Amino acid sequence: MIRLRRKIRIAVVNGPNLNLLGEREPSVYGSRDLNSINDELMEIAAEEGIDIVFHQSNSEGDIIDIIHANRGADGLLINPGAYTHTSIAIRDAISAVRITAVEVHLSNVHSREEFRSKSVIAPVCIGQISGFGAYSYMLGLRALIHFKSRDN
Ligand code: DQA
Repeated sequence: MIRLRRKIRIAVVNGPNLNLLGEREPSVYGSRDLNSINDELMEIAAEEGIDIVFHQSNSEGDIIDIIHANRGADGLLINPGAYTHTSIAIRDAISAVRITAVEVHLSNVHSREEFRSKSVIAPVCIGQISGFGAYSYMLGLRALIHFKSRDN
């Protein structure tokens, strides 16, 4: 019997100041801009045969609306930026739509200022990847695809 599998759909969401990647504190966040990271994610998506959509916003309410609008998606790859440490509202949006989420960070949030080591988002994610620069996103996408493709 042939089993037809629906394509996995993943939403990528970047929060505040990540539109400035490349020029923003390159010693911390690297020299690649967001388009170049998204292009590489798109290549992985094409290789893996999945659908991927990209969003970036500097405002909390917009990020919440984006999460709501993607509630039918199979996965959420999110770098909430500084909202990682403060936004109960983004955390509640992820729980509300019951989407499988992976949190990613370019920098190692655990080796920086103390306030960055606390994530209010991580508890509603299947995992957090932090400290690998742009490669954190690639690892995060592969982790989501792996998680959604196996029986669980
Ligand atoms: C970040 C880490 C956050 O603490 C910071 O506010 C960011 C970027 C990262 O990707 O390393 O904006 O999410």
